[in-house]
Amino acid sequence: MEAPRPFRTAIVPAAGMGTRFLPTTKTVPKELLPVVDTPGIEMVAAEAAEAGADRLLIVTSPGKDAIAAHFAPRPELEATLIARGKDALAAKVRRANELIEVATVTQDEPKGLGHAVGCAGDALAADEEAVAVLLPDDLVLPPPGESGVLARMAAVRAHYGGSVLCAFDVPREQISAYGVFDVQDTDDPDVKIVRDMVEKPPADEAPSTLATAGRYLLDRQIFDALKRIIPGSGGELQLTDAVALLIAEGHPVHVVVHHGGRHDLGNPAGYVRAYVDFALAHPEYGPQLHEWLARRLSWTGGGRVRGA
Ligand code: G1P
Repeated sequence: MEAPRPFRTAIVPAAGMGTRFLPTTKTVPKELLPVVDTPGIEMVAAEAAEAGADRLLIVTSPGKDAIAAHFAPRPELEATLIARGKDALAAKVRRANELIEVATVTQDEPKGLGHAVGCAGDALAADEEAVAVLLPDDLVLPPPGESGVLARMAAVRAHYGGSVLCAFDVPREQISAYGVFDVQDTDDPDVKIVRDMVEKPPADEAPSTLATAGRYLLDRQIFDALKRIIPGSGGELQLTDAVALLIAEGHPVHVVVHHGGRHDLGNPAGYVRAYVDFALAHPEYGPQLHEWLARRLSWTGGGRVRGA
């Protein structure tokens, strides 16, 4: 399936308080925490740009100005680095502002993911028929040698129309942390028709073990649906409920079941795993970390390691 350019704008909701990372998030937005040396939100911006987006619309909240600042040029820092012969570092400084155009919209009150995405609706141009939403807590990694899941989702929208989401198969005991799909098969084992979706159901009521994984390609009708939903799970306006409303009204929704990796940067346990995973793959830090970790894991004393 050949995919035409499916969307120009990628919405990145980044208005949360980051309570699971306090005290760091008193001053540092959790989206700027580094995975080795690069903030998670820059990795998500790169994913959006690679999938064809030319604008990132970041939904922030008061006090999180550092996110927009990360995507602004720093000409003096660059010039200083270049003057010192550190061209590779200057290129790292430049990367975020060269990747993609960035604009922000503010969500004044924490009313949920659906409300955050709805805040971005008015910023779309009249001719933008679809929009991508990327949750920066989720790093969705392509299987080795393949392109990102958004490209696959765009091909599915080109074929079926409507909206396309990304699903991961997760163990049933973890399913109630996610939006969950009720699906029907198509000829492609990795593409399913969505009959309904429900936010954070109890495990024994979940319609499947296919969980929403932070990547959405949504028809712009979503913004109308977002205005019509009422508070759902957790008392918040849920994006899941707006998608479910569209389905109930006959809007086609499909999922691509993704078999690449995924990291959850939204809590310290998932963040540490992502950090270690990327550090192990790093050409400079990986080998030594690997060797140290092997020694560290064989040490049965508990607590923290002493010495190097
Ligand atoms: C959000 C969505 C949920 C989705 C999850 C993926 O939940 O509401 O449907 O499965 O992201 O990470 P949150 O993790 O923000 O509670």
